[in-house]
Amino acid sequence: MLRSLYRPRAILPNHKYHVLRTLATSSSRRETLPSSPIRVLRSVNSARVWRRPLFDTHRTVGLVPTMGALHSGHLSLIRAAARDNHHVVVSIYVNPAQFGPREDLDSYPATWDSDAHILARLDRELAGDGANLGRVSAVFAPTTTDMYPSGFPGQDIDSKGSFVSITPVGEVLEGASRPTFFRGVATVCMKLFNIIQPTRVYFGQKDVQQTVVIRRMVEDFMMPTEVVVGPTERDPTDGLALSSRNVYLGPRRRSVANVLFRALTAAETAYTESRHLDRESIVGAAEGVLDAVLQEQSGLAPERRSLFEVDYVSLADPDTMQEVDAVDPERGAVLSGAIKMLPVEKAAEGEDLGYSGGPAVRLIDNIILKPRTAEE
Ligand code: PAJ
Repeated sequence: MLRSLYRPRAILPNHKYHVLRTLATSSSRRETLPSSPIRVLRSVNSARVWRRPLFDTHRTVGLVPTMGALHSGHLSLIRAAARDNHHVVVSIYVNPAQFGPREDLDSYPATWDSDAHILARLDRELAGDGANLGRVSAVFAPTTTDMYPSGFPGQDIDSKGSFVSITPVGEVLEGASRPTFFRGVATVCMKLFNIIQPTRVYFGQKDVQQTVVIRRMVEDFMMPTEVVVGPTERDPTDGLALSSRNVYLGPRRRSVANVLFRALTAAETAYTESRHLDRESIVGAAEGVLDAVLQEQSGLAPERRSLFEVDYVSLADPDTMQEVDAVDPERGAVLSGAIKMLPVEKAAEGEDLGYSGGPAVRLIDNIILKPRTAEE
């Protein structure tokens, strides 16, 4: 059943309702997620057909773009979208353009059945809470042929094709380590926004540079949508930021993986409690924690330790992501970091090394240092 077709009933003039009812009659063949009214839209055309009547009825649509392997971080964005909008669309598409040729595209967790189950359960929860304006109305799960109609341009840095590049913000930090990443993200998000034409789009603070890139794209290309950023969801026991990639860590590496959050928290304390503004004191506090934990792990036997490499610890301007020498107390700053958890060197007898044999896993995290004036 198509929930979006029920809602307008009360507010539509009769002739419009008849048109919609005709559509609904032929909708029995339309795919929904099991045990739910959530529509599954598998092509650009079906998404456009679904979206069109909602313009006539002035219904708002919130889009939550994801690559699937849903966890509580994704769900918090969907909940926020349901509070603010009549309809929520969750896109599930593992976008090859944002993976480098040697990255984990082939092993990226594909979990359609469990994602479907999670969304159906969440939708029932949303329906039971009167504070929500909407529910999960549709999942958009296109194919690469649909998303790249003139052919997938490839993953190389010098691939030719229709790309959206947001520079210089997309070139630093994550962009320096993964040179095609933000080009892939901006390109696929531009496509998703053009297909769904959402009133609002929802992104997680967890990927802070991604939020800055998307805000810049929406502003510079005059895209008629509002960007909403939701807070980072963390494991309540040790603060590790939830990520679809955490499944690659077995229990041994998982127990060390929150080192980045601990390091960023120490740097935040240097800003908030010790009142430091200079880079050396703030970044130095994070580096101190990373060095200490690495030294501690290096002293353990190869069948017990988890080693990691630090890619960067950054203190950057919140709008440009360019490095700063000191925090401007009026603007605040973004503290962020990336580490690579290395594969275990020697497995213990029967040890669970994590999904896909426990490859190297890149973890990112960040904390926003709020302007001092707002805090006091
Ligand atoms: P994905 O990694 O699946 O993340 C989808 C959204 O969930 C992103 O906005 C991300 O920031 C948010 N998210 C992930 N972990 C979170 C957490 N712990 N707390 C809060 N939000 C969290 O990011 C992507 O996919 C892709 O780049 C995408 C935008 C879909 C483009 O392909």
